[in-house]
Order: sequence, then structure tokens, then C-alpha cells
Amino acid sequence: MVLQAVRYQPGSLEILNQLKLPHQEEYDAVRSAEDGWHAIKEMRTRGAPAIAIVAALSLAVELQNSTLSDKAEEVAALVVEKLDYLVTSRPTAVNLADAARKLKKIVESAAGAEQSSGDSVAKAYYDAAAQMLISDVSDNEGIGKYGAEWIEKQAGGGKVSVVTHCNTGSLATAGYGTALGVVRSLHSNGSLKQAFCTETRPYNQGSRLTAFELVHDKIPATLITDSMASALLRLKGSAERITAIVVGADRVAANGDTANKIGTYQLAITAKYHGVKFLIAAPRTTIDLETKSGADITIEERAGKEMTMIKGPRFDGVDLDLNQQETVSIAAKGIDVWNPAFDVTPADLIDGIVTEIGVVEKDSNGKFDLTVAMEAHHESVKPNSVGGL
Ligand code: MRU
Repeated sequence: MVLQAVRYQPGSLEILNQLKLPHQEEYDAVRSAEDGWHAIKEMRTRGAPAIAIVAALSLAVELQNSTLSDKAEEVAALVVEKLDYLVTSRPTAVNLADAARKLKKIVESAAGAEQSSGDSVAKAYYDAAAQMLISDVSDNEGIGKYGAEWIEKQAGGGKVSVVTHCNTGSLATAGYGTALGVVRSLHSNGSLKQAFCTETRPYNQGSRLTAFELVHDKIPATLITDSMASALLRLKGSAERITAIVVGADRVAANGDTANKIGTYQLAITAKYHGVKFLIAAPRTTIDLETKSGADITIEERAGKEMTMIKGPRFDGVDLDLNQQETVSIAAKGIDVWNPAFDVTPADLIDGIVTEIGVVEKDSNGKFDLTVAMEAHHESVKPNSVGGL
């Protein structure tokens, strides 16, 4: 069975509640933009592409289940207002703002069309929102394919191991995943020796979600804490043939600086020190040419209690009691806490950025030119040729 973070059909949207994973698989109904905003803010759904898709579809189901004005401009204004609200749920991932910008353009042009009506504007909106769910899966399959080929080429044959961080799989997207899609592709090509996934403190997307996906798909994998990554590369790097660290992204700036889950930056530093490739895997909707460098990216800070408390089902030494969720304090009471959800990895530390149309590498000046990738069309770009254009 394929893991599905988002279940949509016209009029109905459900999200897998990721706060309950890995122990319980429960779907929550999302009936409105307000429900979508809360699901994103509370991390019941998360991951840059999934956030954008859930936000867009939450408004689609609201429109599908409401009595709308028959005036095209009124429906367009309502959609724009709700999209602006949805964008306020989480600030760092650009996919949501990018989706909102594209959807606003679609409804504005539908409202301006001849013989437009409230219904025609609403239909243009939810058709476009539904298409995002479909395109995300095919984009991820492209990312997986090109990323796996690139890593296999770096290793020059034989099986490879990789390290990944946070959760970038089916749970963070409409399906397949970005960095975890690369891991899936390596595995299905028969070239994966071992995937190492970090725990990803403080929210544990690695141990709760990525480990869950890896076990679910029977991919050979080992869990480490974030603080073990350098020791892993030093002590097991050559025996395990660790060729790359592959991670996702929440926003890639025009110069290649990349915001991703907190802890990504230290992984890039240790990759460079140990001569391991560092690959960013993201759809082009995550590239933001308007943001010139990492210094311009807003980093979300989350509540201190996400670091000082840990939640999970009660364990009596033998069994888990799924009916008893407990919160346990794991820090000294009164300590000050800093809890940034993301960090920025400078482009200097990144070897490649793989999107659905190929891998972008640095040019002869040691710079990423992401405009080429953004302007290229799928059909016109050959595998792995973006960096060479
Ligand atoms: O706080 P989260 O869980 O939403 O953070 C997720 C990440 O940082 C992912 O690496 C990123 O969104 C890419 S998901 C394909």
C-alpha cells in the first residue's frame, strides 16, 4: 500500500495526521481554508510541497461546499483574500506563496474572461488546485530519477549509501518524495546499499516519519541522531560507501543558498570536510529567484516547548498503549530556549540542486545559475543537462 499524506476528491479533503505517526494512521477531514491553516500551523501536515497542496485544496473544498455569489469578481476577491490568509500559516517554505501567486493569477484571469460567472471562477480555481496534486508526484519521480543517476555517477559504479535529513518523502509531498524520492530511486535501481536517516531534533521528522516510510517500503536503513553524522562519515564513510548527503529544501534563493530543516547546514559542513557530495533535491516550485540570497529568507521560530517536551504513547516496558498519549519534560525547568525550525546552507557547500528537469551544477565561476532551470521546459531539457547549458 502506498503512503498517502493527502486524500482528495472533489468536495472532500483528508490529511494523514502526522502528529500521530508512526504509531497511529489517522486521517483528519479538512473542510475549509481555516481548517487547512490550522492543520499546517499545528504540523498535522508538513513539508514544503504538502503544505502548498493542502492549503490550495482546503480552499477548493470550501468553495465546492459553499453557495457562492454568481458574480465572478466577488468569487475572485474571496479566493484572493483566503489565499492571503493561508500564506500566513508558515513563513519559510516558498511553495505555498508560489502556489498562492499562481492560483491568484488563474482566478483573476478567469474573472476577466468573457461570460465569466462565480461558478466559472471557482471551477478554474479548483481545477488548478487539483492539478497541483497530480503534478507534484510526477515532478518527484523526475527528481528521484535524475538525483539517483547523479549520485551513481559520482560513485563510479557499485552500490552506494546516502544520508538524509528530516522527512522529504510521501508524507511531505503528494507522493514519492524529493530527497527521499532519490533514495527510493536508488533502491529501485538496485544501487542502494544503506540509507542513513537522522532523527531530526526537535520535531523528529526523521525518526518518526522518514524511518516509518523506509520501514514501510522495506528500504535498508539505519537511524542516527543528528549529533552522530560526522562520526558516521568518519568511521563508516568508506566501508559503507557513503557518497552523498541528500536533503530537501523549503526555499532555494537565486544564488543557490538553501533554507531547509534545522541541522541541514551542519550536515553540509561535515559533508565538505569528509569529501562527501551534498545534494539538494527540490521541485522548481521551491526555487525563488525573487529571493537573492539566504540572508533574505525569513526563518520560522517555533515554541520552546517543542524542544523541552516530548510526546508519545505510553510504554509500559513491553507494549505501547496507544490510548494513552503522554507528554514528558526533557529539559531543566526555567531554561531559555531558541528553536529555529530551519537554517540556511550557503551555496558554497552545495554540489548540486536536482529538480524535476535535471541536476544544476555550478558554472566555471563556481556559481549556480538557476535562471536556466527556471526558464527551461521539461520537454526541451535532457537528463542531467541543466548544469551544462
Ligand atoms: O517543518 P517541516 O517538517 O515542514 O520541515 C520540512 C523540511 O524541512 C523538508 O526538508 C522540506 O520541506 C522539503 S519536503 C519535500
